[in-house]
Amino acid sequence: MTTASGAVRIFDTTLRDGEQAPGISLDTKEKLEIAEQLARLRVDVVEAGFPITSQGDFEAVRAIADSVGTQPGAPTIAALARCHPDDIARAGESVKPATRPRIHVFLSTSEVHRTAMLRGASEEQVVAQAVDAVRRAGTYSDDVEFSPQDATRTDEGFLRRVIDAVVAAGATTVNIPDTVGYAIPHDFGRLVGDVVARVGPEVTVSVHCHNDLGLAVANSLEAVRNGARQVEVAVNGIGERAGNCSLEEVVMALATREDLLGSPTAVRTPEIARASRLVTTLTGYPVQFNKAVVGRNAFSHESGIHQHGVLADRLTYEIMRAEDVGVAGSTIVLGKHSGRHAFVRQLDEMGYELSADETARAFGRFKELADRKVEITDTDLEAIVADEITTAADDAFELESLQVSGGTAAAPTATVRLRSRDAGAVVDESSMGDGMVDAACAAIRRATGVEARLVSFNVAAVTGGIDALGDVTIQAEVDGQRFTGRGVSTDVVEASARAYLHAINKSVRLRRRSAGPVPLRTP
Ligand code: KIV
Ligand code: ZN
Repeated sequence: MTTASGAVRIFDTTLRDGEQAPGISLDTKEKLEIAEQLARLRVDVVEAGFPITSQGDFEAVRAIADSVGTQPGAPTIAALARCHPDDIARAGESVKPATRPRIHVFLSTSEVHRTAMLRGASEEQVVAQAVDAVRRAGTYSDDVEFSPQDATRTDEGFLRRVIDAVVAAGATTVNIPDTVGYAIPHDFGRLVGDVVARVGPEVTVSVHCHNDLGLAVANSLEAVRNGARQVEVAVNGIGERAGNCSLEEVVMALATREDLLGSPTAVRTPEIARASRLVTTLTGYPVQFNKAVVGRNAFSHESGIHQHGVLADRLTYEIMRAEDVGVAGSTIVLGKHSGRHAFVRQLDEMGYELSADETARAFGRFKELADRKVEITDTDLEAIVADEITTAADDAFELESLQVSGGTAAAPTATVRLRSRDAGAVVDESSMGDGMVDAACAAIRRATGVEARLVSFNVAAVTGGIDALGDVTIQAEVDGQRFTGRGVSTDVVEASARAYLHAINKSVRLRRRSAGPVPLRTP
């Protein structure tokens, strides 16, 4: 992938490091949808996963390499591997279909990591293992990235030695990970500047900053000022612990202050808001209201003085335009009388490619929604489509109906009707609960026989207005493992039931991989 001179490549790791955030588990379909959006954003590299970790991850990386990675102008598709032959073989196999495959190998170099994680490996052993891994990765792709894990807490003399060795072995990108978010901008800039001078122009220097001290973006910008030509990011800044450098923040800083930094990216910034919403939706990780660039309040002005200023001239209080990041007001696109043709055309214009089955289901949901909501916006459509994406044709259970009764005077009671695909039958169950949502979840638990403990619950409105769609994201724990679920509906209890059932379906899918079909629990 070529970028203009002075340009910075954006390496997106939402699907790898981002997915390592607690409670996030994306399936292949969801990962593909995010990868499609990353391609629309025009990121340069999509790190699609860590294939050795599971068969599911391998399949997802392979599917992304095969579809997104072969489109015209496709991003490079990278897979992560430890410096072990099996890891590298698996990563190489997974990215093989891509037009531009990359293997990203990493090995801990700091003393604390070497002692605790590499069973006290000596410096010599680490160098030898890194060199061997880079050479091996080079047999699968010409594009090999090496990361000395915990670089910022590694003795600098040793770090230089490792870098010299992996470059000599054929690494084309050397990444400097601030694995634990320990770096301080001016010092990190100095370190990166030294590495840039050392490796010369043929090798790309990259940075991968974690946000433990809230400095990931600042450190990345300082690295760019000192010659780094790749920045590793995640949408909404998700990732291990406090997360990764946020894509939207670093990209908009580079765009807004190009006068100072002179390092544009190829990112199509009007796609940022949609990427952010999609990642929020599919991961269940909400974005704080005051988050830079993509937070709900990022472009709203509350105080009278600010409103007055913006009305007179938006430059008084705005350094970016909302439309430049795609958060300009959502437009009304369809209504009750819109037909299937208009619906499909609108999805097409929004860049969605759904299968015939997904289109049919999404259209059904649209019609239901149109009966309850007068104006359907592009953001509503996005929510419906995302809901359908997360509803797989092979889901064990489908919600056919939900009825709730009671309230403040009588005990809340919910009755659900679920269809079990495996059993080809329906089951009705009722339950009381502490509230409507609790009652609905209890009834679903009875009907499915799956004990899912609700760990977190988040509800947001998709758009403004009293008839707004409620967007519910939950995390549920089944057999000690967490699953994210999501549902949308104009009725918040129904959205919650859908989200809860979505998480249960994910848990069942995982269980099915090792066992057979799930029997319908009969009352
Ligand atoms: O934070 C880190 O060190 C990583 C490496 C695998 C690059 O994620
Ligand atoms: Zn990381």
